Amino acid sequence: MKNKKPTRVITIDGPAGAGKTTVSKLLAARLGCAYVDTGSLYRGIAYEVCRCSLNWHNDDELDTLLSSISFELKLQPEGVYRLFSSGQDITDYIRTPEITMLSSDLSAKKAVRQALLGFQREIAKNSDAVFEGRDMGTVVFPDASYKFFLSADLKIRALRRYNESITKEGQQKQTLLEIEQSIALRDRNDSSRENAPLKPAKDAIMIDSTELTPEQVVDKIAAYITREGNF
Ligand code: DC
Repeated sequence: MKNKKPTRVITIDGPAGAGKTTVSKLLAARLGCAYVDTGSLYRGIAYEVCRCSLNWHNDDELDTLLSSISFELKLQPEGVYRLFSSGQDITDYIRTPEITMLSSDLSAKKAVRQALLGFQREIAKNSDAVFEGRDMGTVVFPDASYKFFLSADLKIRALRRYNESITKEGQQKQTLLEIEQSIALRDRNDSSRENAPLKPAKDAIMIDSTELTPEQVVDKIAAYITREGNF
C-alpha cells in the first residue's frame, strides 16, 4: 500500500484582535486548504463548563468533564468548520463575553491543554491546513511547515473587535473601552500562564498588522510561502 503523503501545517498565532481569523480564512481559501480555529475548542470547553455549572477550580470535577467531552469539527460545504459537542452544534453559543473570558481562564489549566493537544494533532492528519491559535507554532505543531505570529496595537485590536460586534449583533453589547479592557486582561492571562503561554515560536515570522488590511497581511504571508517553495 502507498504511504499517505504527509499533510502540511501553517500556524498563525497571536493575541486577540490581531486579525488571525480573517487572515487565516483568506489564506486557507487562497491556498485551497482547510482552516482550523483552535480557540473555538477552548471556548467549547468553557461552554460545557457553564452548561454543567461546573466548579472548574476543582481539578477532579474538571477532569471528569474533560474525559466526557466529545468534540467534532465538521467541515461545512462553504469551507468553514462548525463545532459539535456530543452531537450538538454549539458554534453559535461560544462567542459571548462570558465564554470568551472563561475560555482564557480555562486555557491556563494544564489538563485542558492536554485534553486538546491530541485532538488538534489528529485534525492535522486529515488535510493541509492553516491552524490559528496561541501555541500552534510553539507547542502543538513545533515542526509546522510555516509559522507566523500576528500582532497589532491594543487600541486597534479593540476597535476591530468593536466593529465586528456591531456587524454581527446590530447593536452593542460592550463599549469600546470594555472590549479594550477585556482584551488587555486576556493578553495578560494568555501570555503569563505557565502552560503554553502566548508567545512567538523562535522560528516564527513576525507580522505587525496595525497598519495593514487583512488582504495585505495575506499577501505578505503568501509571498513568503511562495518564496520558500510551493505550498
Ligand atoms: O482565539 P480565541 O479568542 O477564540 O481564543 C479564546 C481563548 O482560548 C484565548 O483567550 C486563549 C485560548 N486559546 C489558547 O490558549 N490556545 C489556543 N491555541 C487558542 C486559544
